[in-house]
Amino acid sequence: MADLKNLLQNADWKTEKHTPAIDAPDTVKKGKMFQVTATVGKEVAHPNTTPHHIRWIMLYFKPADDKFPYQIGNFEFTAHGESAQGPDTSGVYTHHEVTVSLKTDKPGIIYALSYCNIHGLWHSSREIKIG
Ligand SMILES: [Fe+2]
Repeated sequence: MADLKNLLQNADWKTEKHTPAIDAPDTVKKGKMFQVTATVGKEVAHPNTTPHHIRWIMLYFKPADDKFPYQIGNFEFTAHGESAQGPDTSGVYTHHEVTVSLKTDKPGIIYALSYCNIHGLWHSSREIKIG
């Protein structure tokens, strides 16, 4: 059976340019805002051109004792050099990195999902503890 999970690719972000790297504190205070940064190509640069770029990153948080994840945000990167003159002519490019603030009362897992326009869906995760 065709199954979406078979399309989700994962590898170490330090060697695979598509895997989103998640930077966040290992431990946060209950109910206190903290920042999460998700970056594609943090260690191995991913191209950012009209024909080949990262379209979006979505972030989710699943508390350890909840059944379902909560969507933190959907971040689109919408400028990739295109203009009326053609591909890679505008000189304007959105970088595929996003920082967002959130808070939680519970420990859990941050999930990042990213989409390359020609290499598909990639994901990674990071544990957040309450201390
Ligand atoms: Fe790619």
